[in-house]
Amino acid sequence: MTDVLVVGGGGREHALVWKISQSSRAGRIYCIPGNGGISNLAECVPLKATDIDGIKAFALERKVDMAVIGPDDPLAAGITDVLEEAGIRTFGPGKKAARIEASKVFSKGLMLKYGIPTAKHEVFDEYGAALKYLKSCDYPAVIKADGLALGKGVIIAENFTEASRAVEDIMVKKVFGEAGRSIVAEEYLEGTEVTVLAFTDGDKVVPMVSSQDHKRAYDSDKGPNTGGMGTFSPSRIYSPAMAEICMKTIFEPSVKAMSSEGNPFKGVLYFGLMITADGPRLLEYNSRFGDPEAQVVLPRLKTDILDIFDAVIDNKLDSVRIEWEESAAVCVVAASGGYPVKYEKGFEITGLDKAESREGILVFHAGTEKHGGRYYTSGGRVLGVTALADNLEAAAQKAYEAISDISFKGMYYRRDIAKTR
Ligand code: AMP
Ligand code: GLY
Repeated sequence: MTDVLVVGGGGREHALVWKISQSSRAGRIYCIPGNGGISNLAECVPLKATDIDGIKAFALERKVDMAVIGPDDPLAAGITDVLEEAGIRTFGPGKKAARIEASKVFSKGLMLKYGIPTAKHEVFDEYGAALKYLKSCDYPAVIKADGLALGKGVIIAENFTEASRAVEDIMVKKVFGEAGRSIVAEEYLEGTEVTVLAFTDGDKVVPMVSSQDHKRAYDSDKGPNTGGMGTFSPSRIYSPAMAEICMKTIFEPSVKAMSSEGNPFKGVLYFGLMITADGPRLLEYNSRFGDPEAQVVLPRLKTDILDIFDAVIDNKLDSVRIEWEESAAVCVVAASGGYPVKYEKGFEITGLDKAESREGILVFHAGTEKHGGRYYTSGGRVLGVTALADNLEAAAQKAYEAISDISFKGMYYRRDIAKTR
């Protein structure tokens, strides 16, 4: 049996813990820090996901057989290198490879050097030079802080005034701290965004089923950007022909590029694609499963996930056959009133049992805590209600029926997930 430690405490980690718990080989499951829902499947340990020394000590003490890292920040801080050094088999890229997400300057440089189709870009580490360029570039233009900025480091500027404000915030006022030491300014691309997650062992790459994320807070893509208000899988526009083009021009070249640069990437590589009239373009890489993409992709995975993790860690990805359900999945996120700006926590959540008793429904917890058998809100994104069905329309209907069973003070969710694209 394999004792597994999952690092992270959001909806993505609940989906991971749930999938791992279904493995015939799963032994004890631990989660740091976990959440209210995860605590029903795993022993949750109150350490921070970025407390690398604490996590290492815990993993050694409990003699875990494998660690699985969910979020970007411990990966960027080098948790995989530290755990592997201590003899703990770890699923997730090392610090050098995690730069593919943690530095946009690095990732855009890689795309340019290896001819991977992406938006044209310029890099600036000096405020004056950035302003000069933005005076004469085309609009809309996209400004990105180099480093990790909790998903807020990308600004789409409609004109020079907006662009100069963004650059001043990032480079002069340093609203994202060191993440804003350099910026990338790039061409605005029009199209439909598709996420493809892929398993890679540094050499071979196996894409998972496609998905799409709704990032804006309100219906019809209005309101502020969030971590993701809902997802669906598969994408309607990501055809087998498109998948083949992406494999040849984006996925395989990216994995090869990382190896050629001496940073073989092992783990899940997230490709944020824009499908434009001129073909697919790569917007960004992430070094991990997407959240809430994992909540619609993992429920469709038929293969034992621990077999895949082992194969990735041992550089033997071609030894497993990765299979998927033909079904469709839709995840609707229930958020706290005021999210992503300002919201209250600590409200009781009711109706979970009723929602979960419905056929084809999985409720993944994100910001929840469990006390005395009851669940309370503890974050901005609270729950992700995932439904599986034969097609996207049926899955969306089921997800909306189930979410209507659930309530907490201030709860809101988008009504158009999987319906508009
Ligand atoms: P990123 O973190 O690079 O994925 O950017 C966050 C979001 O900004 C993406 O999911 C897109 O919605 C948007 N975005 C980023 N780059 C571009 C671009 N070049 N053109 C249009 N939209 C973009
Ligand atoms: N849903 C977007 C992300 O995980 O980065």
